[in-house]
Amino acid sequence: MPVLRDIGTLVTCAEPGGQGAVHPITDAALVWEGETILWVGRATDLPTEYARWETRVAGGALVIPGLIDCHTHLAFGGWRAEEFEQRIRGRSYLEIAASGGGIVATVAKTRAATTGELRRRCDAHLAAMAELGVTTVEAKSGYGLSTEHELRLLEVYRDLGTGPQRVVPTLLAAHVVPPDYRDHREMYLRLVTDEIIPQAATRGLARFCDVFVEEKAFSLEEGRRVLKAGLAVGLRPKVHADQLTCTGGAELAAEVGAVSADHLECISATGIQRLRASGTVAVSLPFASLYLNTPPMPARRLIEAGVPVAVATDFNPGSAPSYHLPMALTLACTLQRMTPTEALKGATSIAARALGLEREVGSLEPGKSADFAVIDAPSVEQWLYHLRANACVRTVARGKELWRKS
Ligand code: NIG
Ligand code: FE
Repeated sequence: MPVLRDIGTLVTCAEPGGQGAVHPITDAALVWEGETILWVGRATDLPTEYARWETRVAGGALVIPGLIDCHTHLAFGGWRAEEFEQRIRGRSYLEIAASGGGIVATVAKTRAATTGELRRRCDAHLAAMAELGVTTVEAKSGYGLSTEHELRLLEVYRDLGTGPQRVVPTLLAAHVVPPDYRDHREMYLRLVTDEIIPQAATRGLARFCDVFVEEKAFSLEEGRRVLKAGLAVGLRPKVHADQLTCTGGAELAAEVGAVSADHLECISATGIQRLRASGTVAVSLPFASLYLNTPPMPARRLIEAGVPVAVATDFNPGSAPSYHLPMALTLACTLQRMTPTEALKGATSIAARALGLEREVGSLEPGKSADFAVIDAPSVEQWLYHLRANACVRTVARGKELWRKS
């Protein structure tokens, strides 16, 4: 039953007040018991009943809710550094994909990897993310693209998700049509809707169903079929929408009541209005814009229209080969003109909404999970402005220490 004292500033990041309201408390204390937060407030107001509890000190640091990376493609075999160089030399992401690189190249490497290998790689990524203050990670399948291999990736996530750090699984069997079905598109779609989705749902292996709606991936109509098949078996929809071209993916996300619409670099004005009306969270992925050297999601327009914007890494071997969520937040500030507190809220309570976990995580309030990070900075602004390899000195998830700087 510990009390964390000597906190310079604690930001609760509770939902009310909109995108930029992080609700700072100076000279704060935080009390938790087991996995759950009991009390948060100014140290001078600490109820006497907690005064004799085991005390830990934060050394005047900043305390934030455990960060939530609400969009990653965590499990994959190999890397694609050669494509990084090709893009620098002028080939586009879609050209590389059309000549056998891109997602299908990773599918081959992922299928070839043993399950143990995939698990060890994910474990290492998750541990590195924990050091950055990340306590919840959404993880998509999508590099298996067969019943056996998609379910295998979801099983890896199930096995990883038993510790204090949360792993939230999403089925992305509709990432692209795999090469073995190139001339049998309809057959692949039926495999996804009639076999992979129902099996993932019945076995409790996924919480969400995602689809990549894009010229070279799936059409709007195909996306609708996939998401409806997911909904029919209880998988909530998410959409990779309007990333490289404006296809109306945001409108589809709103139509099916998706929890989130992700990417949205090319979103239309109608798309923005529809997301606002449906309450769908827009997930900004600034690493993808940085690495593909394309304009990012117009986050300011979305926020000003009343759409909540989450920020995530999109960690994957192609368009976003980094899991450094704090750096993604800094990029959201510089590339998308989100303020530091708007960006932080996008990786805490708003990200929790994008995962349907807003009752459990994303803010430091009594009753929520004791998930927090201690940051060596005097303020959220200073933290995201002075980008360092790692400013996080301690990470706690479900009341247990995940990491501490030695
Ligand atoms: O979110 N857009 C589709 N999927 C990933 C890229 C995956 C890859 O290039 O391997 C994304 O950017
Ligand atoms: Fe993605």
